[in-house]
Amino acid sequence: MYNEKVMDHFNNPRNVGTIEEPSVIVQVGDPDCGDTLLLSLKIKKEKIIDIKYKIYGCGAAVATSSIASVMARGKSLDEALKITDKLIAKELGGLPKEKEHCSNLAAGALRAAINEYRKSALKSL
Ligand code: FES
Repeated sequence: MYNEKVMDHFNNPRNVGTIEEPSVIVQVGDPDCGDTLLLSLKIKKEKIIDIKYKIYGCGAAVATSSIASVMARGKSLDEALKITDKLIAKELGGLPKEKEHCSNLAAGALRAAINEYRKSALKSL
């Protein structure tokens, strides 16, 4: 059902964990399936210097969170905002049709974290 790259990220997920003193941490859930992603970012000078997550979800959610963390690490916030669910699935070489929605979790969490970070940065001005 899954290709080799998806299976690799599912079996060896990258960047799993929680950053100790994150710049921002968000929890995002998919109301349809109940899967949840806890995402923490360390940001310096508008750049993601560290990214970690904990995922409670299906195999595709694990693989998409893993590849999304690899894609986002080292990117500027503006670049990271361009990481869409479709790009994540493409980077994995595609997902089965019924699993395509699973990449929304990582893309949504990344967006939510960056928006949250920017909101709190504005408040501290
Ligand atoms: S079924 Fe919920 S994210 Fe995959």
